[in-house]
Amino acid sequence: MTYIVTGGAGFIGGNFVHYMLKKHPDDRVVCLDALTYAGNMETLADVMDNPNFRFVKGSISDRETVYAIFANEQPDVVVNFAAESHVDRSIDNAGIFLTTNIIGTQILMDACRKFNIKRFHQVSTDEVYGDLPLDRPDLLFTEKTPIHTSSPYSASKAAADLLALAYFRTYKLPVTISRCSNNYGPYHFPEKLIPLMIVNALSDKPLPVYGKGENVRDWLYVLDHCKAIDLILQKGRVGEVYNIGGHNETRNIDIVRLILKELGKPESLITYVTDRAGHDLRYAIDPSKIRGELGWQSEIRFVDGIKLTVQWYLDNRDWWSRILSGEYSSYYKKMYEERTRLI
Ligand code: NAD
Ligand code: DAU
Repeated sequence: MTYIVTGGAGFIGGNFVHYMLKKHPDDRVVCLDALTYAGNMETLADVMDNPNFRFVKGSISDRETVYAIFANEQPDVVVNFAAESHVDRSIDNAGIFLTTNIIGTQILMDACRKFNIKRFHQVSTDEVYGDLPLDRPDLLFTEKTPIHTSSPYSASKAAADLLALAYFRTYKLPVTISRCSNNYGPYHFPEKLIPLMIVNALSDKPLPVYGKGENVRDWLYVLDHCKAIDLILQKGRVGEVYNIGGHNETRNIDIVRLILKELGKPESLITYVTDRAGHDLRYAIDPSKIRGELGWQSEIRFVDGIKLTVQWYLDNRDWWSRILSGEYSSYYKKMYEERTRLI
């Protein structure tokens, strides 16, 4: 089998490449990644010498490049992780989100049709369902929850999902879609909550918590997500959407406090800043479908996963220090100097 994994130099895609090469040593993995600010060749350093791995730099929104790669590699399966993935960046500038997340997905699916691919898997997000109230713990996102997006990022991901389902119905393209909750773990770019708080705490910098820190996210260790996608590729039914989540709802402020505790740093580093515009209150996934149909369930408890993650950032300072010293520093200034300190 040959898999094309797009976005494999990013956080989840990078973890998936490592997982697949280990789990399926006879299969080939070709990573197609544009190496945007979020892509990092150091994430793939361990696998570059693997004869079953190939890296190609290119954009999913470049039709010619995509078709040429499909012609060369003759893939059986395509897993699309490539995306602009950060909500705050989408609020600042939506354009590239539409190009990559929607047009890029369309071009990949056109290539899948042209080259008779056996499966196109779209890696989507629970954010397509919008948010849930904080005071209704009984409500969870199921696959039947209506699409109801809040940010340009989630709107672009929802558009790609609808397009994928349209390609299934209209052209019989063998599509599956997974909608996962918030991931955490190794190689997570430090613009996102958990790695940002870890690297700031390690540098004794303020930890910027949006609003009151009461928003809730449903955290899943990245390896559990990778395993779920692999299972969907092997056993999932085409035309279906599978929610992925491990019932681990946590308030942002509790995560931040836990990270400070793990690192032995004081809570005085916490700084409450201006809230995110349109900030989703709560996400919570009902994973009964993937559990019932495919037998998947999360294996890594949050208490263990957060320890593994903190330790990874302690052991891999070079990986994140190089990011902090690059163009990321001007992003950080722009995003956080504009936010008023509330407390
Ligand atoms: P990321 O931002 O860490 O990585 C994205 C990768 O895509 C980078 O390597 C980047 O270089 C690449 N990329 C961007 N534009 C590209 C283009 N035009 N062509 C080819 N490559 C391109 O993202 P992530 O957090 O790993 O998320 C991966 C996928 O999973 C995304 O589709 C995201 O919507 C989805 N998702 C993420 C989470 C989460 O918690 N991070 C949860 C659910 C779903
Ligand atoms: O739910 C899945 C989604 O999770 C994915 O689709 C997205 O690609 C991924 O980025 C993530 O989106 P979030 O917006 O939930 O993640 P983020 O890490 O940006 O923020 C998590 C929460 O923490 C959110 O409520 C905002 C808050 N936050 C975030 C940052 C960066 C802060 O309080 N301070 C911060 O500095």
